[in-house]
Amino acid sequence: MTAKTFNDTFLKACRGEATEHVPVWYMRQAGRYQPEYRAIRAKHSFFEMNYIPEVCAEVTRLPVEQLGVDAAILFADIMTPLKPIGVDVNIESGIGPVIANPIESLKDVERLLELDPETHVPYILESIKILRQQLSVPLIGFAGAPFTLASYLIEGGPSKHYHKTKAFMYTEPVAWQALMEKLGDMTITYLKAQIKAGAQAVQVFDSWVGALNDEDYREYITPVMTRIFNALKDTGVPTIYFGIGAGHLLMDWNRLPVDVVGLDWRTSITTAREMGVTKTLQGNLDPTLLLAPWEKLEAKAKEILDEGTKQPGFIFNLGHGVFPDAKVETLQQLTKFIHRYKRDI
Ligand code: CP3
Repeated sequence: MTAKTFNDTFLKACRGEATEHVPVWYMRQAGRYQPEYRAIRAKHSFFEMNYIPEVCAEVTRLPVEQLGVDAAILFADIMTPLKPIGVDVNIESGIGPVIANPIESLKDVERLLELDPETHVPYILESIKILRQQLSVPLIGFAGAPFTLASYLIEGGPSKHYHKTKAFMYTEPVAWQALMEKLGDMTITYLKAQIKAGAQAVQVFDSWVGALNDEDYREYITPVMTRIFNALKDTGVPTIYFGIGAGHLLMDWNRLPVDVVGLDWRTSITTAREMGVTKTLQGNLDPTLLLAPWEKLEAKAKEILDEGTKQPGFIFNLGHGVFPDAKVETLQQLTKFIHRYKRDI
């Protein structure tokens, strides 16, 4: 097999450099919308797919080969490193992570082990090494951010309003602080290990942090996020920070030592720029539009491309993950459209 030329468009864009085409990848590009994924998933539990590096690598490669995207994202979950440090978590199809032993006190926080990637997640490191030999696009590593992980740990599963999480944050300041420190340490150790194994960029998912107002974000979250991104600086690997419904936090994010900010569809690129966001941007097509008529989807994609490419280094993505009812063909057509796009100046 001859190696294909390496497509580094995504990495250039992460560094804010101009690119020949707009790079694109999709959150949840590996998932149940793919018949091939469903066939593999029918044979394994979610975590089993993580534990077998050949399966993990195959599922990671699937969308790269099928859609022609400019980056691969390691197939795992934000809960993956929590399981070996003492969290009894399962991924239930159609629900998400469900935790049998939620955190209720400082004692529960203290029970969590310190992550040792070589012993706790060797399969993740092995999958990354395998993938680096197989891929001709960059491999993105990832982790959940402390608030988002804490929300699962405290609620015991998915939640709408993050009631218990916020109540814990307000009423148990010592335990909350300890939890943020532990999860912050874990995130740094985990991402550094992924980078050492070969991950070429890392995304930190803070999907649910938009539940906080900006003042609380600054008090409870900014310190740990600053520490995480500062700790990754000397790796030289680009960092991306993403959350949903977090438009009101964008200026706080802009001050973090992170390279790229991921937008959801609620905040347009133009609005973000008008707010004063100067970072490289990634986003932000509403994933629901994948179910809309092509003309509508194309018009919105063009608008995003027009806005995004006003500044060099833009990465096209969805504003959240691909839904299981999206069609492979739609994502193929969208990827082609993005790759062919040329800005009219
Ligand atoms: O292709 C990729 O994006 C890489 C793999 C990936 C998964 N989860 C696989 C997965 C990534 C990057 C994640 C991140 C993740 N997991 C986040 C952050 C991004 C986001 O979506 O907000 C969060 C909040 C989770 C927690 C989680 N795990 C949820 C909400 C769910 C989905 C529940 C459902 O069934 O819709 C999961 C399960 C999960 N993680 C699936 C996949 C492909 C579906 C699992 C299945 O096959 O049953």
